[in-house]
Amino acid sequence: MSERRENKTILQLERVSRFYRTRGNVFRGGGRLVVALNEINLSLRAGEIFGLVGESGSGKTTCGRLIVRLEEADQGRITLNGEDITHLKGKKLREYRRQVQMVFQDPYQSLNPQVTIADSVAEPLITNKVGSPLDHMERVLKVLKTAGLSPAEDYVYRFPHQLSGGQRQRVAIARAIVLEPSLLVADEPTSMLDASYSAQIFEILQGVRDKMGATIMFITHSMASARYLCDRIGVIYRGHLVEQGPAEQVINAPQHPYTKALIDATPKFGRAAEVPTYGTLLAAERPANSSAGCPFFRRCALAERLLCAGTYPPWRQVGPEQVALCHLLEDAAPAVSTG
Ligand SMILES: Nc1ncnc2c1ncn2[C@@H]1O[C@H](COP(=O)(O)OP(=O)(O)OP(=O)(O)O)[C@@H](O)[C@H]1O
Ligand SMILES: [Mg+2]
Repeated sequence: MSERRENKTILQLERVSRFYRTRGNVFRGGGRLVVALNEINLSLRAGEIFGLVGESGSGKTTCGRLIVRLEEADQGRITLNGEDITHLKGKKLREYRRQVQMVFQDPYQSLNPQVTIADSVAEPLITNKVGSPLDHMERVLKVLKTAGLSPAEDYVYRFPHQLSGGQRQRVAIARAIVLEPSLLVADEPTSMLDASYSAQIFEILQGVRDKMGATIMFITHSMASARYLCDRIGVIYRGHLVEQGPAEQVINAPQHPYTKALIDATPKFGRAAEVPTYGTLLAAERPANSSAGCPFFRRCALAERLLCAGTYPPWRQVGPEQVALCHLLEDAAPAVSTG
């Protein structure tokens, strides 16, 4: 995969934050502020598959939704090919949305159950006035084939409920690529499917990158999937990016205690659940520390109370192109850039 990787940055997130205010209720009182993303710095290189990995609630979907501009960042800046898209509106936003598309965990989020597959996949062409009605069916058949549905003619007049979950996800991918986007955000596209279907979806995503030249952000909670599919990985913990680097390197030589904990939690990589390789995770969380400290302090078995509880950690260069956000990497050099 690495030989195909280019160094040109296509997408950049600079100190991007997103906050949600939850509604209050009779039990808990007033609303609470949730920091879903906290000053995220990230860049995607043209033609790569970048894995955003983290446990449930870590902010992965939020990050994807900001990139495709289903939502707007509260702070920071997002650029595509150098153009600031953070607060685009109107016509410019519609143009941007032609170039960046999202595949959701649940294909029903992008497929209308009452519309045929042909109409669902053609809809972005119609909305964006691309090609003539005569071209549409040809393009629909082509992308259905790219998405692994063949013979494509067998699927066009069916409805989503007449397909299996794996086939529905392929249709959702076909719809997302019909406008030939330069960037595709795939949000846990296989987490509702069994393993054999997952492998097929991975192959399709690789095909989208290889044949269409799209850059892909692949969102997952699974280190095993990220290792299989991605060129580079970013590990996210409760809204904080904590480690970033080439996929092989991050998985074979993880540096951040949270990345190590994720690898311990992966049956294939950890030796056994009772004997973790790294053992960086506390059995029970510590009480909340001040927001100034390390975001992982409460769960980190290695944390040093004074340092880690009180001071936000610095980015450290821990390998070629690999950086980690931790106080406890003494030999590592300060990182020049985290993007
Ligand atoms: N619309 C919303 N209103 C309030 N809080 C939200 C909203 N959307 C997300 N959150 C909160 O933001 C945080 C990040 O959520 P997000 O859905 O991005 O996580 P995730 O990593 O995609 O999780 P999962 O793996 O379960 O999909 C969570 O604490 C979530 O509860
Ligand atoms: Mg999610």
